[in-house]
Amino acid sequence: MAKPARTASGLKPSYPYYLANRPVAANTDLEVLDKYSGRIATRVAFADARVVRKAIVAAYKAREAMAAFPPDKRRDVLEHCARRFEERFEELALALCVEAGKPIRDARGEVTRLIDTFRIAAGEATRINGESLELQISPRTRGYRGMVKRVPIGVCSFITPFNFPLNLVAHKVAPAIAAGCPFVLKPAFKTPVGALIIGEILAETDLPKGAFSVICCSNEDATALVEDDRIALLSFTGGLVGWDLKSRAGKKKVTLELGGNAACIVDADPGLKLDQVVERLVFGAYYQSGQSCISVQRIYAHADIYDKLRRKLKAAVAKLPMGDPRDEKTFIGPVIDEDSAKRIETWIDEARACGAKKLVGGKRSGNMLPATLIENVPRTTALHREEAFGPVAAIEAFEDFEDALDSVNDSDFGLQAGVFTGSLAHAMRAWDRLEVGGVVIGDVPSFRVDNMPYGGVKNSGLGREGVRYAIEDMTEPRLLVIRG
Ligand code: SIN
Repeated sequence: MAKPARTASGLKPSYPYYLANRPVAANTDLEVLDKYSGRIATRVAFADARVVRKAIVAAYKAREAMAAFPPDKRRDVLEHCARRFEERFEELALALCVEAGKPIRDARGEVTRLIDTFRIAAGEATRINGESLELQISPRTRGYRGMVKRVPIGVCSFITPFNFPLNLVAHKVAPAIAAGCPFVLKPAFKTPVGALIIGEILAETDLPKGAFSVICCSNEDATALVEDDRIALLSFTGGLVGWDLKSRAGKKKVTLELGGNAACIVDADPGLKLDQVVERLVFGAYYQSGQSCISVQRIYAHADIYDKLRRKLKAAVAKLPMGDPRDEKTFIGPVIDEDSAKRIETWIDEARACGAKKLVGGKRSGNMLPATLIENVPRTTALHREEAFGPVAAIEAFEDFEDALDSVNDSDFGLQAGVFTGSLAHAMRAWDRLEVGGVVIGDVPSFRVDNMPYGGVKNSGLGREGVRYAIEDMTEPRLLVIRG
């Protein structure tokens, strides 16, 4: 069989969208740019509001068939996908590298996690258990028995961001299949290719007709994904606009993962291996150019080790290779677009104007922003308060561990936090006091395994992903009472 044609970027010349399990080549195309070269990498079929409504109707009709699709078959679908991802591993990694500008090593890491997420979901598909309830709690209830099973919630709508075009799609799609929910997915329009390849692979399976649609369209045309009452759950990952979507979502359940400005504490611990801490901080702050919701943005280091840590960190950050994400050596690739790079640059300049000191950094060129380390960023500035979503981290010293915990909590966000400490008491104190969805001891907040509960408090969002936790949201308890 002849191999499909490829563009210079290595991607196919065009990708269809998927409406009710089937590929559709639309009249209108969306150009997807290679984020490093700026050239057109491929085109994807672009849908409109009419198509979105059709997808919702198809998903709504598929509710019963999906609910009746047996757990072992859901598992088989998920396992099929995992196998196909393995077979198409390099193609998927290249797609991320091109459409997201993700350095190829990070891209491969994401494909590995995509496979993990589907495998975890395959395992969970046959473990969605209920419970039996003891109802005989008084003479009035003598002879009654209770049982609870979990049933699929119904149609789900998913809106996903640009920074993990595969794995953040997987965190919605795979639990939905495991739970028995039909869904309509709208991937980020800057990085739709990963999701469309997932759609292509799902189309190889025997999921009931209408079970899934993967549609690229404008935000305006996606309105129904937020507002249509036939949808039972909206799961959104992205920026603070998520809160606005929630206010328009009516009666549906809403889960939001909206990022943060994650902090990491480095405690005064004579046993701490600073070189290893630095290696993890560099990874946490700068991998995929800091475009992760749990990227290290704020580092609080104890005064006793501050100078040494700062020196080592400076040296390591200054050495990070920046360039073509296809190059195996590249650590810092482009950020998603020039506007984002300019915004981050402006925040860095503002922080400096307010007294912060740049320790490492360089000039921006287009959407290439060198890794930046900056010291003593004033708490009033955007670089401290907002989510930078770029290759920049701020460092400052603390004297007292409790103050460091206060500093971490001095944020409108609360997704994950990291703490390097050798003190069990400090570790427990951090777990008790930090206002976040997850505390990571001995590592950076950027650490995530795909079966962990993942989500935040405050502005960071609502609900948890991490396959089993998403399945919980995508199913509801249904009670059975039996008398006699
Ligand atoms: C995110 O950016 O929210 C996802 C981070 C991850 O999955 O590692």
